[in-house]
Amino acid sequence: MSNDSQHILDFIRHLLSATANASLYGMEHPQVERLTSQSFTSIGEILKSRPEVTLMVVENELIIDGQPQELGLFLDRFTQILKSRDIGTIKLLYGITKLEVNALIRGLSNQSDGGTLAIASSDHIRFGKVDLQVSGLSGDADLIGSNKTSITLPDMPRVELANFMEIYEAVKKKHKLQINGVYDVVAGFINVFRQEGKPLLAMAALKETDEYTFTHSTNVCVLNLAQAMALGIEGQLLNDIGVAAMLHDIGKLFIPEEILTKTERLTDKEFNIIKQHPVKGARHLLETSGVPRLAVVTAYEHHLKFNLSGYPKVPTDWQQNLCSHMTAISDFFDALRTKRSYRKSIEVKQITDMMQNMIGADLHPTLTRNFLKIILVLTESTDRI
Ligand SMILES: [Fe+2]
Ligand SMILES: [Fe+2]
Repeated sequence: MSNDSQHILDFIRHLLSATANASLYGMEHPQVERLTSQSFTSIGEILKSRPEVTLMVVENELIIDGQPQELGLFLDRFTQILKSRDIGTIKLLYGITKLEVNALIRGLSNQSDGGTLAIASSDHIRFGKVDLQVSGLSGDADLIGSNKTSITLPDMPRVELANFMEIYEAVKKKHKLQINGVYDVVAGFINVFRQEGKPLLAMAALKETDEYTFTHSTNVCVLNLAQAMALGIEGQLLNDIGVAAMLHDIGKLFIPEEILTKTERLTDKEFNIIKQHPVKGARHLLETSGVPRLAVVTAYEHHLKFNLSGYPKVPTDWQQNLCSHMTAISDFFDALRTKRSYRKSIEVKQITDMMQNMIGADLHPTLTRNFLKIILVLTESTDRI
Protein backbone atom coordinates (compact mmCIF):
# COMPACT_ATOMS: atom_id res chain seq x y z
CA MET A 1 0.00 0.00 0.00
CA SER A 2 1.32 3.45 -0.87
CA ASN A 3 1.98 6.06 1.83
CA ASP A 4 -0.87 8.14 0.49
CA SER A 5 -3.43 5.34 0.77
CA GLN A 6 -2.22 4.65 4.30
CA HIS A 7 -2.68 8.33 5.23
CA ILE A 8 -6.18 8.39 3.75
CA LEU A 9 -7.16 5.28 5.72
CA ASP A 10 -5.61 6.80 8.89
CA PHE A 11 -7.56 10.00 8.27
CA ILE A 12 -10.86 8.11 7.95
CA ARG A 13 -10.11 5.87 10.94
CA HIS A 14 -9.34 8.82 13.23
CA LEU A 15 -12.28 10.79 11.89
CA LEU A 16 -14.58 7.89 12.61
CA SER A 17 -13.28 7.39 16.17
CA ALA A 18 -13.54 11.13 16.81
CA THR A 19 -17.13 11.11 15.53
CA ALA A 20 -18.07 8.13 17.71
CA ASN A 21 -16.44 9.72 20.78
CA ALA A 22 -18.07 13.08 20.08
CA SER A 23 -21.52 11.47 19.94
CA LEU A 24 -20.85 9.74 23.26
CA TYR A 25 -18.96 12.35 25.29
CA GLY A 26 -19.44 15.64 23.41
CA MET A 27 -17.03 17.72 21.35
CA GLU A 28 -15.08 19.04 24.35
CA HIS A 29 -13.78 15.65 25.47
CA PRO A 30 -9.93 15.36 25.37
CA GLN A 31 -10.19 12.12 23.42
CA VAL A 32 -12.10 13.95 20.66
CA GLU A 33 -9.50 16.71 20.67
CA ARG A 34 -6.66 14.17 20.31
CA LEU A 35 -8.36 12.25 17.48
CA THR A 36 -9.21 15.51 15.67
CA SER A 37 -5.51 16.43 15.72
CA GLN A 38 -4.57 12.99 14.42
CA SER A 39 -7.03 13.09 11.53
CA PHE A 40 -5.92 16.64 10.70
CA THR A 41 -2.27 15.48 10.59
CA SER A 42 -3.12 12.57 8.27
CA ILE A 43 -5.10 14.67 5.79
CA GLY A 44 -2.36 17.32 5.91
CA GLU A 45 0.20 14.67 4.88
CA ILE A 46 -1.87 13.66 1.84
CA LEU A 47 -2.52 17.23 0.71
CA LYS A 48 1.22 17.98 0.72
CA SER A 49 1.54 16.10 -2.55
CA ARG A 50 -1.77 16.82 -4.30
CA PRO A 51 -4.39 19.56 -4.43
CA GLU A 52 -7.39 17.52 -3.33
CA VAL A 53 -8.80 14.17 -2.27
CA THR A 54 -12.30 13.06 -3.27
CA LEU A 55 -14.31 10.52 -1.31
CA MET A 56 -17.45 9.30 -3.05
CA VAL A 57 -20.24 6.94 -2.03
CA VAL A 58 -22.01 5.14 -4.87
CA GLU A 59 -24.70 2.85 -3.51
CA ASN A 60 -22.77 0.79 -0.96
CA GLU A 61 -19.33 1.46 -2.30
CA LEU A 62 -16.72 3.93 -1.14
CA ILE A 63 -14.57 5.36 -3.91
CA ILE A 64 -11.45 7.30 -3.01
CA ASP A 65 -9.97 9.34 -5.85
CA GLY A 66 -11.67 7.15 -8.42
CA GLN A 67 -10.56 3.93 -6.74
CA PRO A 68 -13.26 1.62 -5.30
CA GLN A 69 -12.20 0.45 -1.82
CA GLU A 70 -12.45 -2.94 -0.27
CA LEU A 71 -14.80 -2.29 2.60
CA GLY A 72 -13.36 -3.56 5.86
CA LEU A 73 -14.98 -2.87 9.18
CA PHE A 74 -14.35 0.85 9.54
CA LEU A 75 -14.67 1.84 5.88
CA ASP A 76 -18.03 0.12 5.82
CA ARG A 77 -19.13 2.07 8.90
CA PHE A 78 -17.83 5.30 7.42
CA THR A 79 -19.76 4.66 4.18
CA GLN A 80 -22.95 4.02 6.14
CA ILE A 81 -22.51 7.27 8.12
CA LEU A 82 -22.07 9.29 4.93
CA LYS A 83 -25.14 7.63 3.44
CA SER A 84 -27.22 8.32 6.54
CA ARG A 85 -26.23 12.00 6.27
CA ASP A 86 -27.13 12.00 2.56
CA ILE A 87 -23.55 12.85 1.63
CA GLY A 88 -22.47 11.54 -1.79
CA THR A 89 -19.09 13.18 -2.10
CA ILE A 90 -16.58 14.91 0.16
CA LYS A 91 -13.81 16.90 -1.48
CA LEU A 92 -10.93 17.77 0.85
CA LEU A 93 -8.82 20.59 -0.53
CA TYR A 94 -5.30 21.80 0.09
CA GLY A 95 -5.30 24.47 2.82
CA ILE A 96 -7.75 22.59 5.07
CA THR A 97 -7.63 23.79 8.70
CA LYS A 98 -8.00 21.92 11.97
CA LEU A 99 -11.11 23.99 12.65
CA GLU A 100 -12.70 22.66 9.46
CA VAL A 101 -11.87 19.05 10.42
CA ASN A 102 -13.40 19.80 13.81
CA ALA A 103 -16.59 21.12 12.17
CA LEU A 104 -16.73 18.00 9.98
CA ILE A 105 -16.60 15.77 13.07
CA ARG A 106 -19.26 17.89 14.77
CA GLY A 107 -21.47 17.61 11.69
CA LEU A 108 -21.02 13.85 11.35
CA SER A 109 -21.64 13.21 15.05
CA ASN A 110 -24.68 15.46 15.41
CA GLN A 111 -27.80 13.35 15.66
CA SER A 112 -30.04 15.90 17.27
CA ASP A 113 -32.43 16.07 14.36
CA GLY A 114 -32.61 12.40 13.65
CA GLY A 115 -29.34 12.16 11.83
CA THR A 116 -30.22 14.02 8.67
CA LEU A 117 -28.54 17.30 9.58
CA ALA A 118 -27.34 19.03 6.45
CA ILE A 119 -23.63 19.67 6.82
CA ALA A 120 -22.48 22.90 5.22
CA SER A 121 -19.45 23.01 2.93
CA SER A 122 -16.53 25.19 4.00
CA ASP A 123 -13.62 26.64 2.04
CA HIS A 124 -11.65 23.39 1.96
CA ILE A 125 -14.27 20.74 2.62
CA ARG A 126 -16.97 20.46 -0.03
CA PHE A 127 -19.95 18.16 0.20
CA GLY A 128 -22.01 16.95 -2.70
CA LYS A 129 -24.63 14.42 -3.60
CA VAL A 130 -24.19 11.60 -6.07
CA ASP A 131 -27.37 11.40 -8.05
CA LEU A 132 -28.07 8.57 -10.38
CA GLN A 133 -29.91 10.98 -12.60
CA VAL A 134 -31.57 8.30 -14.65
CA SER A 135 -32.75 6.22 -11.73
CA GLY A 136 -36.38 7.23 -12.18
CA LEU A 137 -36.55 5.56 -15.57
CA SER A 138 -39.56 7.73 -16.27
CA GLY A 139 -38.17 8.87 -19.56
CA ASP A 140 -37.72 12.43 -18.40
CA ALA A 141 -34.04 12.21 -17.66
CA ASP A 142 -32.63 15.57 -18.62
CA LEU A 143 -29.17 14.22 -18.95
CA ILE A 144 -29.75 12.17 -22.02
CA GLY A 145 -32.89 13.68 -23.40
CA SER A 146 -36.38 12.38 -23.65
CA ASN A 147 -37.68 13.11 -27.09
CA LYS A 148 -37.06 11.60 -30.45
CA THR A 149 -35.00 14.38 -31.92
CA SER A 150 -31.36 13.53 -32.26
CA ILE A 151 -28.20 15.52 -32.56
CA THR A 152 -27.37 15.90 -36.20
CA LEU A 153 -23.83 15.96 -37.42
CA PRO A 154 -23.59 19.76 -37.74
CA ASP A 155 -24.20 19.92 -33.97
CA MET A 156 -21.11 17.91 -33.27
CA PRO A 157 -17.79 19.53 -32.61
CA ARG A 158 -16.71 18.69 -36.13
CA VAL A 159 -13.55 20.74 -36.24
CA GLU A 160 -12.27 19.04 -33.11
CA LEU A 161 -13.22 15.67 -34.49
CA ALA A 162 -11.30 16.29 -37.66
CA ASN A 163 -8.37 17.23 -35.49
CA PHE A 164 -8.70 14.04 -33.53
CA MET A 165 -8.66 12.06 -36.77
CA GLU A 166 -5.42 13.83 -37.65
CA ILE A 167 -3.95 13.10 -34.22
CA TYR A 168 -4.77 9.43 -34.73
CA GLU A 169 -3.19 9.35 -38.16
CA ALA A 170 -0.08 11.04 -36.78
CA VAL A 171 0.33 8.49 -33.99
CA LYS A 172 -0.07 5.74 -36.57
CA LYS A 173 2.83 7.21 -38.50
CA LYS A 174 4.88 7.15 -35.28
CA HIS A 175 4.66 10.87 -34.68
CA LYS A 176 4.08 12.39 -31.30
CA LEU A 177 0.63 12.34 -29.75
CA GLN A 178 -0.81 15.85 -29.52
CA ILE A 179 -2.56 15.57 -26.20
CA ASN A 180 -4.00 19.09 -26.28
CA GLY A 181 -6.05 18.19 -29.32
CA VAL A 182 -7.59 15.26 -27.42
CA TYR A 183 -8.47 17.57 -24.52
CA ASP A 184 -10.20 19.90 -27.00
CA VAL A 185 -12.29 17.09 -28.47
CA VAL A 186 -13.44 15.93 -25.04
CA ALA A 187 -14.20 19.49 -23.90
CA GLY A 188 -16.19 19.93 -27.12
CA PHE A 189 -18.25 16.81 -26.38
CA ILE A 190 -18.94 17.86 -22.81
CA ASN A 191 -20.13 21.24 -24.07
CA VAL A 192 -22.44 19.73 -26.64
CA PHE A 193 -23.88 17.28 -24.10
CA ARG A 194 -24.53 20.07 -21.63
CA GLN A 195 -26.28 22.21 -24.24
CA GLU A 196 -28.16 19.44 -25.99
CA GLY A 197 -28.57 17.14 -23.04
CA LYS A 198 -28.33 14.06 -25.20
CA PRO A 199 -24.84 12.61 -25.13
CA LEU A 200 -25.62 9.19 -26.47
CA LEU A 201 -27.32 10.45 -29.56
CA ALA A 202 -24.04 11.95 -30.58
CA MET A 203 -22.67 8.46 -30.72
CA ALA A 204 -25.15 7.28 -33.28
CA ALA A 205 -24.15 10.03 -35.65
CA LEU A 206 -20.55 8.94 -35.41
CA LYS A 207 -21.25 5.45 -36.66
CA GLU A 208 -20.95 6.84 -40.18
CA THR A 209 -17.20 7.36 -39.85
CA ASP A 210 -15.35 4.40 -41.21
CA GLU A 211 -12.02 4.07 -39.38
CA TYR A 212 -12.85 1.53 -36.70
CA THR A 213 -10.47 2.38 -33.87
CA PHE A 214 -11.21 6.08 -34.32
CA THR A 215 -15.00 5.64 -34.31
CA HIS A 216 -14.84 3.13 -31.49
CA SER A 217 -12.66 5.42 -29.34
CA THR A 218 -15.02 8.30 -29.85
CA ASN A 219 -18.05 6.15 -29.01
CA VAL A 220 -16.38 4.82 -25.87
CA CYS A 221 -15.63 8.42 -24.90
CA VAL A 222 -19.28 9.41 -25.33
CA LEU A 223 -20.44 6.39 -23.32
CA ASN A 224 -17.90 7.05 -20.56
CA LEU A 225 -18.96 10.68 -20.31
CA ALA A 226 -22.61 9.62 -20.09
CA GLN A 227 -21.77 7.20 -17.28
CA ALA A 228 -19.67 9.74 -15.40
CA MET A 229 -22.21 12.55 -15.81
CA ALA A 230 -24.99 10.28 -14.56
CA LEU A 231 -22.90 9.71 -11.44
CA GLY A 232 -22.55 13.46 -10.93
CA ILE A 233 -18.84 13.53 -11.76
CA GLU A 234 -17.70 16.94 -12.97
CA GLY A 235 -14.67 19.12 -13.61
CA GLN A 236 -11.18 17.78 -14.21
CA LEU A 237 -12.10 14.20 -13.40
CA LEU A 238 -14.89 14.23 -16.01
CA ASN A 239 -12.49 15.57 -18.63
CA ASP A 240 -9.84 13.01 -17.71
CA ILE A 241 -12.36 10.15 -17.93
CA GLY A 242 -13.22 11.33 -21.45
CA VAL A 243 -9.58 11.67 -22.46
CA ALA A 244 -8.79 8.23 -21.01
CA ALA A 245 -11.61 6.73 -23.09
CA MET A 246 -10.42 8.44 -26.26
CA LEU A 247 -6.96 6.95 -25.76
CA HIS A 248 -7.83 3.53 -24.31
CA ASP A 249 -7.09 1.64 -27.54
CA ILE A 250 -4.20 3.80 -28.72
CA GLY A 251 -1.99 0.69 -28.43
CA LYS A 252 -3.91 -0.81 -31.38
CA LEU A 253 -2.17 1.68 -33.63
CA PHE A 254 1.01 -0.30 -32.98
CA ILE A 255 -0.55 -3.62 -33.99
CA PRO A 256 -0.28 -4.64 -37.68
CA GLU A 257 -3.37 -3.54 -39.59
CA GLU A 258 -3.81 -6.93 -41.26
CA ILE A 259 -4.32 -8.58 -37.86
CA LEU A 260 -6.79 -5.94 -36.68
CA THR A 261 -8.91 -6.16 -39.80
CA LYS A 262 -8.66 -9.90 -40.36
CA THR A 263 -12.11 -11.37 -41.03
CA GLU A 264 -11.24 -15.03 -40.44
CA ARG A 265 -10.61 -16.53 -37.02
CA LEU A 266 -7.37 -15.30 -35.44
CA THR A 267 -4.59 -17.77 -34.74
CA ASP A 268 -3.29 -18.00 -31.15
CA LYS A 269 -0.19 -16.15 -32.21
CA GLU A 270 -2.20 -13.32 -33.74
CA PHE A 271 -4.45 -13.10 -30.72
CA ASN A 272 -1.41 -12.86 -28.48
CA ILE A 273 -0.19 -9.93 -30.55
CA ILE A 274 -3.55 -8.17 -30.17
CA LYS A 275 -3.42 -8.79 -26.44
CA GLN A 276 -0.32 -6.62 -26.27
CA HIS A 277 -2.23 -3.44 -27.12
CA PRO A 278 -3.01 -2.43 -23.49
CA VAL A 279 0.65 -2.58 -22.51
CA LYS A 280 1.86 -0.94 -25.73
CA GLY A 281 -0.73 1.80 -25.34
CA ALA A 282 0.07 2.47 -21.69
CA ARG A 283 3.78 2.64 -22.49
CA HIS A 284 3.21 5.09 -25.33
CA LEU A 285 1.04 7.31 -23.14
CA LEU A 286 3.54 7.16 -20.31
CA GLU A 287 6.21 8.47 -22.64
CA THR A 288 4.02 11.34 -23.84
CA SER A 289 4.07 14.46 -21.73
CA GLY A 290 0.79 16.01 -20.59
CA VAL A 291 -1.21 12.76 -20.67
CA PRO A 292 -3.34 12.34 -17.53
CA ARG A 293 -2.23 9.40 -15.38
CA LEU A 294 -5.78 8.12 -15.55
CA ALA A 295 -5.37 7.58 -19.30
CA VAL A 296 -2.21 5.50 -18.79
CA VAL A 297 -3.93 3.36 -16.14
CA THR A 298 -7.08 2.95 -18.26
CA ALA A 299 -5.15 1.93 -21.36
CA TYR A 300 -3.39 -0.69 -19.26
CA GLU A 301 -6.47 -2.01 -17.43
CA HIS A 302 -9.38 -1.81 -19.88
CA HIS A 303 -9.32 -5.52 -20.78
CA LEU A 304 -9.16 -6.62 -17.15
CA LYS A 305 -12.40 -8.05 -15.92
CA PHE A 306 -14.03 -7.26 -12.60
CA ASN A 307 -12.68 -10.54 -11.21
CA LEU A 308 -9.21 -9.58 -12.52
CA SER A 309 -9.14 -12.21 -15.24
CA GLY A 310 -8.61 -10.92 -18.76
CA TYR A 311 -5.33 -9.32 -19.81
CA PRO A 312 -2.62 -8.28 -19.04
CA LYS A 313 -2.03 -10.59 -16.07
CA VAL A 314 -2.09 -8.73 -12.74
CA PRO A 315 -1.48 -9.77 -9.11
CA THR A 316 -4.54 -11.02 -7.19
CA ASP A 317 -4.69 -7.94 -4.95
CA TRP A 318 -4.70 -5.51 -7.91
CA GLN A 319 -6.99 -2.49 -7.40
CA GLN A 320 -8.59 -1.63 -10.71
CA ASN A 321 -9.37 2.03 -11.31
CA LEU A 322 -12.99 3.18 -11.57
CA CYS A 323 -12.40 4.67 -15.02
CA SER A 324 -11.06 1.31 -16.25
CA HIS A 325 -14.28 -0.36 -15.09
CA MET A 326 -16.34 2.30 -16.89
CA THR A 327 -14.25 1.92 -20.03
CA ALA A 328 -14.59 -1.88 -19.99
CA ILE A 329 -18.39 -1.42 -19.87
CA SER A 330 -18.51 1.17 -22.69
CA ASP A 331 -16.01 -0.89 -24.68
CA PHE A 332 -18.05 -4.08 -24.46
CA PHE A 333 -21.25 -2.31 -25.49
CA ASP A 334 -19.75 -0.46 -28.42
CA ALA A 335 -17.72 -3.41 -29.68
CA LEU A 336 -20.90 -5.49 -30.03
CA ARG A 337 -23.16 -2.66 -31.18
CA THR A 338 -20.93 -1.65 -34.05
CA LYS A 339 -21.10 -3.61 -37.25
CA ARG A 340 -17.77 -5.24 -38.05
CA SER A 341 -16.43 -6.76 -41.21
CA TYR A 342 -16.93 -10.27 -39.82
CA ARG A 343 -20.39 -9.88 -38.25
CA LYS A 344 -23.53 -7.76 -38.10
CA SER A 345 -24.26 -5.41 -35.23
CA ILE A 346 -26.11 -6.98 -32.32
CA GLU A 347 -29.44 -5.68 -31.01
CA VAL A 348 -29.26 -3.45 -27.92
CA LYS A 349 -31.59 -5.70 -25.92
CA GLN A 350 -29.39 -8.70 -26.60
CA ILE A 351 -26.27 -6.81 -25.50
CA THR A 352 -27.84 -5.47 -22.30
CA ASP A 353 -29.07 -8.99 -21.42
CA MET A 354 -25.53 -10.25 -21.87
CA MET A 355 -24.18 -7.44 -19.71
CA GLN A 356 -26.72 -8.20 -17.00
CA ASN A 357 -25.32 -11.72 -16.86
CA MET A 358 -21.76 -10.46 -16.71
CA ILE A 359 -22.30 -8.38 -13.56
CA GLY A 360 -19.94 -9.35 -10.78
CA ALA A 361 -17.67 -11.66 -12.75
CA ASP A 362 -16.76 -9.60 -15.81
CA LEU A 363 -18.22 -6.19 -15.10
CA HIS A 364 -18.42 -3.86 -12.10
CA PRO A 365 -21.91 -4.28 -10.53
CA THR A 366 -22.84 -0.69 -9.57
CA LEU A 367 -21.39 0.87 -12.69
CA THR A 368 -23.01 -1.69 -14.97
CA ARG A 369 -26.42 -1.09 -13.36
CA ASN A 370 -25.91 2.64 -13.85
CA PHE A 371 -25.00 2.02 -17.49
CA LEU A 372 -27.98 -0.25 -18.14
CA LYS A 373 -30.31 2.40 -16.69
CA ILE A 374 -28.90 4.98 -19.09
CA ILE A 375 -29.32 2.65 -22.06
CA LEU A 376 -32.83 1.67 -20.98
CA VAL A 377 -34.00 5.28 -20.71
CA LEU A 378 -32.42 6.00 -24.04
CA THR A 379 -33.95 3.06 -25.88
CA GLU A 380 -37.35 3.97 -24.47
CA SER A 381 -37.03 7.54 -25.66
CA THR A 382 -35.36 7.07 -29.01
CA ASP A 383 -34.64 4.44 -31.59
CA ARG A 384 -31.22 5.80 -32.38
CA ILE A 385 -28.52 3.76 -30.72
FE1 LIG B 1 -8.86 -2.57 -26.22
FE1 LIG C 1 -11.69 -0.77 -27.04
